[in-house]
Amino acid sequence: MDGLDVVGCERCDELCRSRSRIVNGVGPADADLLFVGEAPGANEDEEGEPFVGRSGSILDDALRDAGLARADVRITNCVRCRPPDNRDPTSDELANCRGYLERELSLLDPELVVTLGKVPSEHLLDRSVAVTKEAGDVVDVRLGDRSYRTIVSVHPAATLYDGSQRETFFETIAHAADLAGVSERDGGQSNLGSF
Ligand code: URA
Repeated sequence: MDGLDVVGCERCDELCRSRSRIVNGVGPADADLLFVGEAPGANEDEEGEPFVGRSGSILDDALRDAGLARADVRITNCVRCRPPDNRDPTSDELANCRGYLERELSLLDPELVVTLGKVPSEHLLDRSVAVTKEAGDVVDVRLGDRSYRTIVSVHPAATLYDGSQRETFFETIAHAADLAGVSERDGGQSNLGSF
């Protein structure tokens, strides 16, 4: 779609063997908010869409809490093919896929990028990131001659193991919606209390 989709890439031998398909980003090509995750998992590999498993439903909940729907935002990953056994992508795999992410960023030119977890945060900020500590921090990520306003977030899966991270995650997504100017929260109402 509009030069955003990768078709038939064979840069990573192991990922070519482990993937069922390439999982491209989804959402409007002119979205103001771009969420960047790590790599597809089993559900994403099966369905061909980022964040459709448990992490995806937490992301959907947080978007809803911020007055947004999944269809309002764009969601992509640093690496577009599922690593075997859900391992982290290697630095070579991240490097091989980097051009696709940079192209998506430059075509979209979003108001705000949200890095979901350690891998995408470190990949884009180009330094080590203590995501729990830095969640909610806003930084400018410089790529070539462009700069992208970026907010660091914990990964939605982190909320499954640590209740306090759930609050951090929901707050970060609500803050991101505000910063991108897309927040439609009903008088600031939040359903955080129900979790
Ligand atoms: N986790 C990610 O980082 N990306 C996905 O697409 C799904 C889970």
